[in-house]
Amino acid sequence: MTVVCSARPRLEGAPKSGPWVWLCEQAVPVDMLRLAVEQGAVDVFHKGSRDWEARLLRRLEESLVEAPAPRVPATFIAHSAAAKALLAQLAQAARTSMPVLLTGETGTGKEVAARLIHEWSERRSHTFVPINCAAIPDELMEGELFGYAKGAFSGAVHGYDGLVSAAEGGTVLLDEIDDTPHALQSKLLRVLEDRVISRLGENAWRKVDFRILAATNRDLKQLIERGLFGEDLYERLATVQLHLPPLRERQEDVEPLVLHWLERYYAVEAPAPDHPRVRSATSEALEVLRAYPWPGNIRELRNAIYGALVAKRAGDELLLSDLPRRLWQRERANTSALVSAQEVERRVASGTMNLRAELERLERLALQAALRRAGGNASEAARLLGEVGRGRAKDPGGTVRTMMKRLGASPRGGA
Ligand SMILES: Nc1ncnc2c1ncn2[C@@H]1O[C@H](COP(=O)(O)OP(=O)(O)OP(=O)(O)O)[C@@H](O)[C@H]1O
Ligand SMILES: [Mg+2]
Repeated sequence: MTVVCSARPRLEGAPKSGPWVWLCEQAVPVDMLRLAVEQGAVDVFHKGSRDWEARLLRRLEESLVEAPAPRVPATFIAHSAAAKALLAQLAQAARTSMPVLLTGETGTGKEVAARLIHEWSERRSHTFVPINCAAIPDELMEGELFGYAKGAFSGAVHGYDGLVSAAEGGTVLLDEIDDTPHALQSKLLRVLEDRVISRLGENAWRKVDFRILAATNRDLKQLIERGLFGEDLYERLATVQLHLPPLRERQEDVEPLVLHWLERYYAVEAPAPDHPRVRSATSEALEVLRAYPWPGNIRELRNAIYGALVAKRAGDELLLSDLPRRLWQRERANTSALVSAQEVERRVASGTMNLRAELERLERLALQAALRRAGGNASEAARLLGEVGRGRAKDPGGTVRTMMKRLGASPRGGA
């Protein structure tokens, strides 16, 4: 644990990784407290506050008691800081039986994350039951979830215990939870509160022991505002909320994911006798893959790689020209619209905008791209960044070096 000391309540010198506490000579205003925690501070102390020395000592002692990190399966790629932070949150969630709401765009890995929580939890020896709420017709959903008695409706020739019962002792994932019909939402709330279920056509209630996880790629808060999702149920499901970052915010994961999908492809498909096995991608191809915004996230990347391999005619390297056309077209379109006005509008409206973090992300992306292209040469990178990146005439790379230091970027274009 690092202790960052400062005379004034200004956040300077926060470590880039690892837990830290901030010890300040003066009282820290609420805005700065929030910012410090956002940057990974475990606690913040003002030297004049009551018992600050004892509290600091306690934080240092607590940091020595670390829970053992669970084993990450080799198929789960997590090289970027965002993915590593997610893994740590999943491990924390796995230690409890609390409901967890997994949010994130399509293809970001919500189901994979839910499986990890189950596998890492005490419930791992019982069943993990994923239920896709959008795939079950509304009128059949209650019966599918909670079961039905023989003769409960025409066609119910046998009794059925339902999917929730199948997860006894284990974990239920309610995927696409936003698609749950309103009437069933109240029943679900009751089940979550009382842990009892009853089959359709029966009055008996049975106790069940299961953990509930839910996933959605929609903004449930907005659905609540429009009266389409129950606030009570949301509060229950979102006891712990984990957000899966989109692939465009995990650029360091693109190359390992490409290698991962190359390997997975050949685990199923044997290369044709006269075709060499593709083992890598050229740096230009990777650069285009990293720059693409991937609206379909990891699933879309997988499909792009598999598609390229199916169509590939020769060579053991994935080339720029092997990649789907839309990646190129997008590259060109990007030059005119670096920031999506629509997305900015959406985030401001939903209160999820963090301008400071977004500006830093843009700076970091531009800096990394320029450094990669310039082979680590700061003056050349400054030229590629346009006016803002240029230093003084005597030291044209000065601004870039200052930026590198501030953003913790390496000359090779990594973070
Ligand atoms: N960290 C990861 N490493 C490797 N593959 C991953 C990772 N996360 C997700 N995937 C893969 O990406 C694909 C999409 O994952 P998943 O189905 O969990 O996404 P999702 O968020 O549930 O998507 P949707 O909202 O469309 O249901 C799957 O093929 C999954 O194996
Ligand atoms: Mg899913």
